[in-house]
Amino acid sequence: MALAIAAGLAVAACHVSARLEIPAEKPRDVFRIWAHSDIQPVDEKEFFHYETAIDDIALSLPGIDLALVAGDIVYAKKDAARFYRWFLDTRERAGIPHWFEIAGNHEARDLDAYLRNIRKPLHYAVAVDNILVILMSDEKRTPQSEISQTTFEWWKGLVIANRDRILITVTHACLAGSGLGSSRFPTMRMASSKRFEDVLEKYPVDLWISGHNHITSSIMSKLSLPRAYPRTLFVEVASIHLTALSGIESCVFEFRDGSGTCIVLQRDHQSGRFAPASGVSHELRVPYRRGNGVPEILLPDRDDARVPREP
Ligand SMILES: [Fe+2]
Repeated sequence: MALAIAAGLAVAACHVSARLEIPAEKPRDVFRIWAHSDIQPVDEKEFFHYETAIDDIALSLPGIDLALVAGDIVYAKKDAARFYRWFLDTRERAGIPHWFEIAGNHEARDLDAYLRNIRKPLHYAVAVDNILVILMSDEKRTPQSEISQTTFEWWKGLVIANRDRILITVTHACLAGSGLGSSRFPTMRMASSKRFEDVLEKYPVDLWISGHNHITSSIMSKLSLPRAYPRTLFVEVASIHLTALSGIESCVFEFRDGSGTCIVLQRDHQSGRFAPASGVSHELRVPYRRGNGVPEILLPDRDDARVPREP
């Protein structure tokens, strides 16, 4: 069944007023990313939050190519291994072949447990087709996503050396200058944001994905295209964790072969619908080119920041 999902447009800066639709069944020339974060069940009674999201994806949006998890998978240090195992087992049901995660401030309480269970480095990049995703974890247990100068330099090198690729940055907290509502609160924005902002002025990325802010998108907008960085769409993909102020929410990004726009839709997993008036069509710097769809992980210790060309 071709489920037509419509979303209005909330980000005036995008200058788009048409309605957006994506079919549940994915056309062959399309690449879809599902991004989410802030799962962090306090106990078993909260497992259904993530399970609701996973079941919605499995039932209504099969064919997602790749998942990004922007931090805060677990809640506490205690029993972390058990909660990581539940996360890894539960996500299998979504049928998504490739998963890439970062540590948020909750993982940063015990990074050894995160590394042991998730089995990815804290910082790495993923090259898939002509998209380059750069992922940077929280390095300290403070809420402000503290990222070392060495890691920043690695990010900067990749951003400058790969201008011919669609560039996506993933962090747990948002950039201070993102224009997102949460950036007004010191505990919600990245420490030392200015060094990143200085780079973005000359070398913009296409998308900056973050989590950390649990307030539902119907109260606080999760999308921003600030005047200072007009080529970078900032998207908060939180949260899965359900409270009085947060729904079970996430984002789907759709790229189409040869197209210079990316469709960004916010999913409300409780209703099984894309949130009304929350989708945008974002103009990319580089059109998406469909390749073999197989991701390659690039580690920060590479000498050359330049991603190798496909054969
Ligand atoms: Fe967080």
